[in-house]
Amino acid sequence: MRRLIPFILSAVLSPALLQVAYCADGTSPSIQILAIDLNGEFNIKAASTGVGDTLADFDGSQRAYPVEWLPNASIFEYNGIEFNLPPFHDPKAHDSIRSDSQVIAVPNNNTLYHSFHALATSVWPPSGSADARAGNLTFEFDDGSIANKQILVGPWWSRNPFDGPIHTPFHYANPNLDGGKMVDYNVTSISYVAARIPNDRPLKSITLPVDSSFINFFAISLVGVTANTTGPVLSVQSVRSTTKWSQSDEAGSRIQQIEVTLANLSPLSAPSNASWITSPHNITLSSSNNEIETVIPGNFLRLRSNDQVVVPVGIRSAQTLSAGTKVKVQVQINGDSSAVFENQQTEFEITAGIPEWQNTDESLRTHESPDWYEDAKFGIFIHWGIYSVPAWAPTGQQYVAWYDHDLHTPPNNGSKTWVHHLETYGPNVTYDDFIANFTASKWNADDWTDFFADAGAKYFVFVTKHHDGYALFDTGNSSHRNSVLLSPKRNVLTELWDSAKNRHPELYRGAYYSLPEWYHPDFAPYGFDAWPGGAALNAFNHSCCDPFTGYVHVDDYLEGIHKPQMSTLMFEYDADILWCDIGGPSAFPQIAASWYNHAASQNRQVVMNNRCGANQSDFVTPEYATFPAVLSQKWETSEGMDPFAYAYNTDTPLDAYKNASTVLTLLSDIVSKGGNFLLGVGPKEDGTIISAMTDPLLQVGQWLKIAGESIYGTRPWFIQPEDTSTGSTNVRFTTKPDAFYIIALSRPENGVLRTSAPVPIIDGDTVHLLGGSGIELRWFIEDGMLGVEVDDNELDKLPVPIWAFKVLYHLE
Ligand SMILES: *[C@@H]1O[C@H](CO)[C@@H](O)[C@H](O)[C@H]1NC(C)=O
Ligand SMILES: *[C@@H]1O[C@H](CO)[C@@H](O)[C@H](O)[C@H]1NC(C)=O
Ligand SMILES: *[C@@H]1O[C@H](CO)[C@@H](O)[C@H](O)[C@H]1NC(C)=O
Ligand SMILES: *[C@@H]1O[C@H](CO)[C@@H](O)[C@H](O)[C@H]1NC(C)=O
Ligand SMILES: *[C@@H]1O[C@H](CO)[C@@H](O)[C@H](O)[C@H]1NC(C)=O
Ligand SMILES: *[C@@H]1O[C@H](CO)[C@@H](O)[C@H](O)[C@H]1NC(C)=O
Ligand SMILES: *[C@@H]1O[C@H](CO)[C@@H](O)[C@H](O)[C@H]1NC(C)=O
Ligand SMILES: *[C@@H]1O[C@H](CO)[C@@H](O)[C@H](O)[C@H]1NC(C)=O
Ligand SMILES: *[C@@H]1O[C@H](CO)[C@@H](O)[C@H](O)[C@H]1NC(C)=O
Ligand SMILES: *[C@@H]1O[C@H](CO)[C@@H](O)[C@H](O)[C@H]1NC(C)=O
Ligand SMILES: *[C@@H]1O[C@H](CO)[C@@H](O)[C@H](O)[C@H]1NC(C)=O
Ligand SMILES: *[C@@H]1O[C@H](CO)[C@@H](O)[C@H](O)[C@H]1NC(C)=O
Repeated sequence: MRRLIPFILSAVLSPALLQVAYCADGTSPSIQILAIDLNGEFNIKAASTGVGDTLADFDGSQRAYPVEWLPNASIFEYNGIEFNLPPFHDPKAHDSIRSDSQVIAVPNNNTLYHSFHALATSVWPPSGSADARAGNLTFEFDDGSIANKQILVGPWWSRNPFDGPIHTPFHYANPNLDGGKMVDYNVTSISYVAARIPNDRPLKSITLPVDSSFINFFAISLVGVTANTTGPVLSVQSVRSTTKWSQSDEAGSRIQQIEVTLANLSPLSAPSNASWITSPHNITLSSSNNEIETVIPGNFLRLRSNDQVVVPVGIRSAQTLSAGTKVKVQVQINGDSSAVFENQQTEFEITAGIPEWQNTDESLRTHESPDWYEDAKFGIFIHWGIYSVPAWAPTGQQYVAWYDHDLHTPPNNGSKTWVHHLETYGPNVTYDDFIANFTASKWNADDWTDFFADAGAKYFVFVTKHHDGYALFDTGNSSHRNSVLLSPKRNVLTELWDSAKNRHPELYRGAYYSLPEWYHPDFAPYGFDAWPGGAALNAFNHSCCDPFTGYVHVDDYLEGIHKPQMSTLMFEYDADILWCDIGGPSAFPQIAASWYNHAASQNRQVVMNNRCGANQSDFVTPEYATFPAVLSQKWETSEGMDPFAYAYNTDTPLDAYKNASTVLTLLSDIVSKGGNFLLGVGPKEDGTIISAMTDPLLQVGQWLKIAGESIYGTRPWFIQPEDTSTGSTNVRFTTKPDAFYIIALSRPENGVLRTSAPVPIIDGDTVHLLGGSGIELRWFIEDGMLGVEVDDNELDKLPVPIWAFKVLYHLE
């Protein structure tokens, strides 16, 4: 049977949004989208009519969005969810909620809610900084029970931007706090966040996060289904066009990836034999005039109740269709369970084809992390340069690569680096005196690339130029401050990348590139914060100036340095990843489109981070920090093997480096929440890497060789990323279309792995320990908890005490 019911609870949603339910029997499930009426809750004004609008105060520090850039419509659709927009355009009405544990009542009308969706954003705490912020939603149910769900929300603006569905090109600043300026021209946005709601009982209310979470809300919508539904209730939440593609076909045309988000809205507690998908299904898209055809159907074979999944479908557009055309498509779900499903169709709009990129925000914003990057999960970050000669920072406190800065700031014994330098080298040695001692005397690029591969990394990012301005590649005549002309008189980047291309073509190659340089004389007009530009005064006699060896004058730093140097990395070295640092003034937005188009012409999909000084980013970059929940955009944590340095630090005791178990704990945790892990390794100036860093990483590589399928190519589980509850083993979850992974970060006790999470396991599925003996492990469900029996012999087989269990779905 089939129903198309745009069933709307509260208010004014347009019937344009159809949700399709595919349902088992003669009953009529109806998908409900409840756009909660928040009018009684709004307590602040986000949208400002301009300087002097005294009501507008979004962050508690009188900053606000420009109203003319906020949508005028009352309905906003994103990711298949309709939101009621607040009264941005009524200058007298509050239009957002500063979260402070407000209780939002939910009229449930016989509906079981499956997911929470919000337009929200985090603000900077007073004298704090831009960061994604976590907060707990508390769901209260009719039966008195509660459930917590941690959400993570990106900041409304940052020099290194996060993304969101609504953008304004600036926001109003607070001149008293923002150095006198009325307007801040960083791109400013409203984020999207989604969370799963346990849907086995009627929801009564939602308590928003506490005030110290600094999360503000604009709109909240819930998705649910009428109670008393039986059978799987599949809902196509969205059909999202991407600019990602899989291999070009013979004809040279690219196969575009379309992402179908599919939810099974039936209640969590419903029996698996009646309400889960447990057999192979595929999804195809078609259009009535054959503008597109499905080339690679999307596959899924397990979808439990209260779960959802993103299924990629590969399509090809007709030759005659110009790329970027909007096309109405039908979604067809095919499965062998004819009793449960009919082939159903309804229409969704997609953008067919991938247009050439242009240097406009609208175009660049469509760029996104490619699947290879999402799949890779684990990369190695190499910091190696003249700072590797002194190789010193107070361990655990400062970065070694910041030696040049910390030598000069402050230029007295208030700086530990200054004191160390004076004691070790005397006052007559300047930073550039280290150049000659950067020898690479024992360096062989093959040793490194073999090591990256042996450590289990799928990509590496090499520091091609740090803030000291010393480049490790041929910078032509834009600067002569580089390893080719000075020490060690080698083109380090070429040697390294040639080695990778020849020996490990499977490794993707990333270039870290610092946009600012602390002491480049011509950066001074652009200088800010810790990157003033201009030559450094001598740290000891304060005379002008320390040498900036290899300096070549340029009229304009962005034109003369950024453009040629970034172009070299993009077009000559064919970087797969551009890992910019610091952000701020940048030539990147002027060359981004040509880079994307150049790479696409070679059938390569490249990726950039959020520090390129652009208004968009393919991924965001917490540093020596991880995110505690899934973010709505791709992210990557970076940190070193060192407790607090990326480059080699002689001040760090050998036992302070991370061990293999710490690395794998971090990696599993990060991956379960949708992140990648870029792990820093700092070679010595001669090119060798100490065993305190290589040994643990080789163990990590051994573990990944036998258990890496629980990491690489996985996606987070919609229901929950982890189980750290009492009585459960401390576990993280990852998923693939054909299997579910449970990664134990603590040793299962008394021979049993336990979790209270609703793992999508059914009779016939097999469980085994990756890297174990291969035996099938007995599993059982007891008091709602999954137990997997595993004895010590089995657990002891792993080279690192982290255990990945694979639940292989039984094929019906
Ligand atoms: C939902 O329930 C409330 C009372 O519980 C009722 O007033 C309202 O009409 C119902 N809405 C719909 C769409 O059924
Ligand atoms: C909203 O409407 C106003 C007045 O018509 C217009 O100036 C503004 O550009 C519109 N904003 C958006 C985001 O469409
Ligand atoms: C959310 O709640 C959990 C426990 O319920 C707690 O451990 C965590 O710290 C809370 N997180 C935030 C951001 O409040
Ligand atoms: C962006 O924000 C930073 C603060 O992080 C500020 O210093 C800078 O001036 C802003 N940039 C622009 C273009 O307004
Ligand atoms: C759903 O089931 C409950 C209890 O089983 C019953 O009270 C209720 O009337 C049913 N609702 C509908 C719409 O069938
Ligand atoms: C599902 O399993 C239960 C208990 O194992 C059984 O009683 C029921 O008949 C099964 N239902 C279907 C539709 O197979
Ligand atoms: C899609 O599913 C249908 C029904 O199970 C099956 O007949 C067909 O072979 C599948 N197609 C592909 C390409 O997997
Ligand atoms: C640091 O320098 C100040 C000012 O020159 C001096 O008074 C102080 O004794 C110095 N401290 C140490 C520990 O050398
Ligand atoms: C530093 O140079 C000065 C001037 O050349 C010299 O007098 C002094 O002895 C040198 N200091 C050291 C520690 O070498
Ligand atoms: C300051 O020290 C530097 C480095 O030793 C030296 O080259 C320079 O001549 C000194 N300047 C003065 C004024 O002593
Ligand atoms: C450079 O290396 C030489 C030879 O090992 C050593 O004598 C000198 O002190 C070093 N200089 C610096 C600045 O590290
Ligand atoms: C750099 O400048 C020199 C001297 O003007 C010139 O010979 C050389 O070709 C230039 N190199 C590049 C890469 O432009």
